[in-house]
Amino acid sequence: MTIEDVKVVELPRFLDARGNLSFVEQLNHIPFEIERTYWIYDVPGGEARGGHAYKRNQEFIVALSGSFDVVIDDGNKKKVYTLNRSYYGLYVPSGLWREINNFSTNSLALEFGSTLYDRSDYVDNYDEFIKLKGNGEI
Ligand code: TYD
Repeated sequence: MTIEDVKVVELPRFLDARGNLSFVEQLNHIPFEIERTYWIYDVPGGEARGGHAYKRNQEFIVALSGSFDVVIDDGNKKKVYTLNRSYYGLYVPSGLWREINNFSTNSLALEFGSTLYDRSDYVDNYDEFIKLKGNGEI
């Protein structure tokens, strides 16, 4: 997997004077079956989360509120995706180093995953990630 496999997905929007509505569907806007949903909230300014890669888990990230940056690194190239609208999602395949930072106050990050939580799926060390990437193991 490389940076080119990361996709910004525009989600449906129903604009309404009573308030807008958006939604996501698995195997449609999200290109995998969802096994897990979690959210990150109450992040103090300046904090960063999730400096790691997943061996198997794919994810889809939505900034439900506020904004933050998702930094993707494929071992070769690095790209920053700023999420600041609730009607865009970022698809991140497995095998990429990713960090989320630059959280705005009261931001809310919603994440859908393709696998259940499994600590052994994480690669937490960047040098290890580069090694696995070089060997084609991730
Ligand atoms: P972690 O993935 O390490 O957070 P981040 O990479 O964003 O810093 O998760 C933090 C803690 O939450 C960790 O102790 C495990 C727990 N956790 C679950 O139990 N289930 C989950 O689905 C996730 C994402 C985390």
